[in-house]
Amino acid sequence: MGGLQGRRVVLGVSGGIAAYKAVEVCRRLMDAGAYVMPVMTRGATHMVGPTTFSALASEPVRMSLWDAPEPIPHTRLGQTADLVLVAPATARVIGCYANGISNDLLTATLLATRAPVVLVPAMHTEMWEQPAVQLNLDLLRSRGVTIVPPGVGRLAGGDVGAGRMAEPADIVAVASEILAPQDLAGLTVLVTAGGTREPIDPVRFVGNRSSGKQGHALAAEAAARGADVVLVTTTNQPVPPGTDVVCVETAAEMEDAVLDRAAGADVVLMAAAVADFRPKAPAPDKIKKNEGIPEIVLEPTTDILAELGRRRRPGQTLVGFAAETGDVRAYASSKLRAKGLDLVVANDVSAPDVGFEHDTNRVLVLGPDGFEIEGSLMDKRAVARLVLDAVIDRRTSGEGKQKK
Ligand code: CTP
Repeated sequence: MGGLQGRRVVLGVSGGIAAYKAVEVCRRLMDAGAYVMPVMTRGATHMVGPTTFSALASEPVRMSLWDAPEPIPHTRLGQTADLVLVAPATARVIGCYANGISNDLLTATLLATRAPVVLVPAMHTEMWEQPAVQLNLDLLRSRGVTIVPPGVGRLAGGDVGAGRMAEPADIVAVASEILAPQDLAGLTVLVTAGGTREPIDPVRFVGNRSSGKQGHALAAEAAARGADVVLVTTTNQPVPPGTDVVCVETAAEMEDAVLDRAAGADVVLMAAAVADFRPKAPAPDKIKKNEGIPEIVLEPTTDILAELGRRRRPGQTLVGFAAETGDVRAYASSKLRAKGLDLVVANDVSAPDVGFEHDTNRVLVLGPDGFEIEGSLMDKRAVARLVLDAVIDRRTSGEGKQKK
């Protein structure tokens, strides 16, 4: 499950104009399955109405140490939280927290928690660049607090500069990564992504519609769960920090890159759409149309996945992907058997919102001993979670054959 699913998050909102964006952060945390406990400072209530957070979050917003229905709200919030996320975090809140000062419910909660803390500063450029503020942030970083830095953009009053709060989607992604289980720590995960391009001549190629989004989402999820990730990719989709990235273009380049690195991998996820055929003799110069209609003779490429199946080392988990139309289950299970896989992840690419180029996917995951998970339509990161959960399941309970 996702890092946020079922986790308790205190969402602290302090008095910056970006407080209106915290509404979106709240909604996204809820969508990701978190239990959200909102806390506003008095300043924040000048920027956005408390009712908004009470309506969206899991419980009513708390604003004071003194008028809540419970006598000591800060200890309940601090002790039960899995994460305290403050967005926006003003210079005052940052300063109080760095110096151990509690002067309202939010700062009291920050001091009363042992959960990880994420601060998302937002303020005017002059305040952001103030050495006192930067020193406080350095101090907090050195204590393990995660700071999601602001960007440059439009600020309150029409000024433009550094200090604009990070985007809600990025803030929630950081929260999710912090709460992700570290169940892949110590494992090397090799992922392939994107479609290969097989040259016809120096300007033309035989390609396919793979965007690489699913492969990159798998790499990001594996990295968030503590794996050492090697990503062999044909695309320039975003890459998680710390990933060993190998850029390739053709099936042959992907074959070399993958076979070189597979021996060191505990898990191989072949999400790339590798061409099955390539032009046998790519033209060294551009083919000119006045030279007549060219005949392109194709030859097969190496089936990398099948080769990996032959070379597989004990304890390695091999996962193939199958983009199908028609009888998806039947085609996928025959690939599972033919290539000797631990899992096959199949999708019906003819269905709406599924597969190539979309941000969403719906997959059927099959294993050899009747193992089966049928996912609903979800975003590709959620599909990545589901696939990696299945990998962990196979490696731990899978007939006791494989050990982590
Ligand atoms: N694959 C591979 N090397 C190739 C072709 C595919 O490693 N030359 C991998 C893909 O990365 C994917 C799986 O094999 O994990 C897809 O299986 P495949 O049988 O190649 O699917 P299709 O090309 O769609 O084959 P078919 O025409 O039989 O459906």
